Amino acid sequence: MLVLVGLVLCLAPADALTAFPPKFQVGKMNGDMVVKCNTSEQQVTWTLNGELDPMIEVTNEGQTLTIHGLDLPATGNYSCWAGTVLLDTTYVVVSSTREERLNVSCQAESYRGSFRCSWTVPYPAAFRTRLTHSDGSLGEWVPVASHRGRFSASFTDPSFCPFAEELHPLQLQLEGLTDTSYLNFSIHFFVRDIVRPDPPQQLTVQRRGEQLHLAWAPPASWSLPKSYFALLYRLQYELLNGTQVDKYVEGAEETQLQESARRVRISCQDPYANPAWSPWSAWQDVNAAQPRRLRVH
Ligand SMILES: *[C@@H]1O[C@H](CO)[C@@H](O)[C@H](O)[C@H]1NC(C)=O
Ligand SMILES: *[C@@H]1O[C@H](CO)[C@@H](O)[C@H](O)[C@H]1NC(C)=O
Ligand SMILES: *[C@@H]1O[C@H](CO)[C@@H](O)[C@H](O)[C@H]1NC(C)=O
Ligand SMILES: *[C@@H]1O[C@H](CO)[C@@H](O)[C@H](O)[C@H]1NC(C)=O
Ligand SMILES: *[C@@H]1O[C@H](CO)[C@@H](O)[C@H](O)[C@H]1NC(C)=O
Repeated sequence: MLVLVGLVLCLAPADALTAFPPKFQVGKMNGDMVVKCNTSEQQVTWTLNGELDPMIEVTNEGQTLTIHGLDLPATGNYSCWAGTVLLDTTYVVVSSTREERLNVSCQAESYRGSFRCSWTVPYPAAFRTRLTHSDGSLGEWVPVASHRGRFSASFTDPSFCPFAEELHPLQLQLEGLTDTSYLNFSIHFFVRDIVRPDPPQQLTVQRRGEQLHLAWAPPASWSLPKSYFALLYRLQYELLNGTQVDKYVEGAEETQLQESARRVRISCQDPYANPAWSPWSAWQDVNAAQPRRLRVH
């Protein structure tokens, strides 16, 4: 049975996507598209964005719906029903015509094979991502959470080896859906290029006569052993007249200052990779009396 539906009702605006839909189809602008209802029902009814009679041209036959001349008003949430029972839902979009660039920024806090990526888009969208691991195996698609237009996701490559030189970049594939269109991106990078350590921790300052003795520990998230994953430390201290002085220390977790200082802070970097400094630790005041321990989060 073929039913041609040409309709003249007002079109409800598509709801903005709040999550990546489990099922979607991408079509060409002005092409035809067949949407299938995954059901054993012989005949189903369809809604588009909740509308029973949207103003678009479709052919409804058994469990399939053919959209004729896909355009923006014909994109959105196609749901098939048996009476009031929802059977299946497919989100229909067109492939993006614009050339889009996403500014995806990724960061790893160590060489453990875990990292975090984030990006923003200026329009409502939903994303999912998939990581190609360093051994070439393909990860699962993972929906990405967003907060006020900022998307961020954490990844772990279980096959990542911290001790081997990375020969092949990791590949991250991103798929995005807006209300009406589909975006597809892929980025490549080496973990060594995105490493940015956390701040060093437990900075302590002790007055020893005329000198200040400083001691600290590497960031808890940093890779071990220390002998292999060395860190370069940058101490910054503020003299009593307000001048700030930097001091660099490599291969040790303590040092002495000859001058008196008001307060001290510390950051670190991997001296053999991308020169991204960690964030600073909090300032540690230099007290005349008791040494104080500071826990850095
Ligand atoms: C599509 O519509 C159905 C039925 O109203 C609803 O259950 C589903 O959550 C919607 N899906 C999306 C991605 O909006
Ligand atoms: C159809 O539905 C069945 C049962 O819910 C499910 O196992 C199957 O993966 C679905 N097929 C498609 C193409 O969605
Ligand atoms: C990309 O994003 C990062 C961090 O969000 C920002 O620092 C950088 O300037 C951006 N680059 C471009 C080309 O927009
Ligand atoms: C997305 O891009 C990848 C690689 O660039 C390609 O293999 C894939 O077919 C694209 N997906 C769609 C739905 O166009
Ligand atoms: C602060 O003191 C240091 C060392 O005592 C000195 O070298 C520097 O010039 C002083 N800076 C100012 C702004 O007075």
